[in-house]
Amino acid sequence: MVKICCIGAGYVGGPTMAVIAYKCPDIEVAVVDISVPRISAWNSDQLPIYEPGLDDVVKHCRCKNLFFSTDVEKHVFEADIVFVSVNTPTKTRGLGAGKAADLTYWESAARMIADVSKSDKIVVEKSTVPVKTAEAIEKILTHNSKGINYQILSNPEFLAEGTAIQDLFNPDRVLIGGRETPEGYKAVKALKDVYSHWVPEDRILTTNLWSAELSKLAANAFLAQRISSVNAMSALCEATGADVSQVAYAVGTDSRIGPKFLNASVGFGGSCFQKDILNLVYICECNGLPEVAEYWKQVIKINDYQKSRFVNRIVSSMFNTVANKKVAILGFAFKKDTGDTRETPAIDVCQGLLGDKAQLSIYDPQPMSPTTKKKVHCVWDAYEATKDAHAVCILTEWDEFKKLDFQRIYDNMQKPAFVFDGRNVVDANKLREIGFIVYSIGKPL
Ligand code: NAD
Ligand code: UGA
Repeated sequence: MVKICCIGAGYVGGPTMAVIAYKCPDIEVAVVDISVPRISAWNSDQLPIYEPGLDDVVKHCRCKNLFFSTDVEKHVFEADIVFVSVNTPTKTRGLGAGKAADLTYWESAARMIADVSKSDKIVVEKSTVPVKTAEAIEKILTHNSKGINYQILSNPEFLAEGTAIQDLFNPDRVLIGGRETPEGYKAVKALKDVYSHWVPEDRILTTNLWSAELSKLAANAFLAQRISSVNAMSALCEATGADVSQVAYAVGTDSRIGPKFLNASVGFGGSCFQKDILNLVYICECNGLPEVAEYWKQVIKINDYQKSRFVNRIVSSMFNTVANKKVAILGFAFKKDTGDTRETPAIDVCQGLLGDKAQLSIYDPQPMSPTTKKKVHCVWDAYEATKDAHAVCILTEWDEFKKLDFQRIYDNMQKPAFVFDGRNVVDANKLREIGFIVYSIGKPL
């Protein structure tokens, strides 16, 4: 039986390995982590992350061929294939601070693999890493190898949160990069055999290591660039009377452009887009390509602009002050169907409003983290959040916000009652009929 171990039981490691175990009953999968609470949660009925469909997949294989453990060394020792899916955040200090990826967790995982291994292993980069990371990892492993052979593969993950299970069950593609040597090809084939259990052959792409590593950063940069492009257009729409939804539809029906990922918003969030673009910018700078770096930096600048534009719009509409006014925040997660609030645009919007001394009352359908709860007033119901409020800000596109009884909300609010829809989820005209003053992104007032 092939044994897989995955280091890192987070948003990627957990769901990805659960799906491998589900689709490959002949493979034993162990997901390990240094975080005791995280592993306990994976072994309980309350999984550490909210992801539609995940509970069923985990329940189906847990304790059969899927195990969650803190005994990192034992499972790495036993594995034939070791995935590394640890976090790779932006460096906060030292060389490249604010841009470069912090590979501390990756390096310590690699050193631990070198320490405990007694048999040949395939080591798979699942985390998003700077291009050329495999070279560094190879050095750490081979210089400590004790005669063991390691093959490093790059197998970046393209799942999106909220649709992780669906993305993993039916991926657009699986990308595997390896060394172009007989041993490298053999390792690529071994990993391909895992995915072939359910992914059609023509969707498993194989490349050299550097192309696979760079493709992941490139894919996220292209995706984020589409959002910044449509958000930049939203500002122009507001200035001219064009409607950004109509413009996005008209642009997206060109089959060369395509309709997806053109929703104007308060700005993109999440743990990866900004981090990965900053990483790309840093790599360009290090390779003496300042013009290329500047090009990608602009994607982030427009995103920051979009968030501050939204805050400015709220304050200026509400007679240039929100001091001591109750503002209801509907949605805090960085997108719907996830409890993840890492780098959510809601943080910047809330900070902007708090800076103007607003009183915030926040409701998100998913439980808020204790840190957020400490700083602001969180409630368990949209009606409670909006009671006596001067304004409602919609910051996540949760489906339940479309079904709210806005007449009831209006009746219980201060007047004039404002709605600032940062996700264009409500029917602005219907709300205007009720009496609200409505601001949507990129739409005529
Ligand atoms: P995460 O923070 O949720 O999980 C990482 C886990 O690794 C943590 O639980 C941490 O305790 C553990 N860890 C760190 N060092 C360890 C070590 N030495 N030994 C054992 N465990 C260790 O992160 P994530 O969101 O799952 O992201 C992981 C990687 O995948 C990142 O590089 C990210 O860019 C990439 N990625 C994320 C997504 C996403 O949707 N979140 C999608 C694609 C790729
Ligand atoms: C994104 C990518 O979509 C994944 O392919 C990738 O694997 C992942 O990053 C990663 O590397 O971490 P994720 O961040 O989970 O996935 O979610 P997205 O659906 O991409 O949304 C990101 C942000 O963009 C959210 O805040 C979302 O609301 C926003 N967005 C998305 C828009 O504002 N408009 C859109 O049209 C689409």
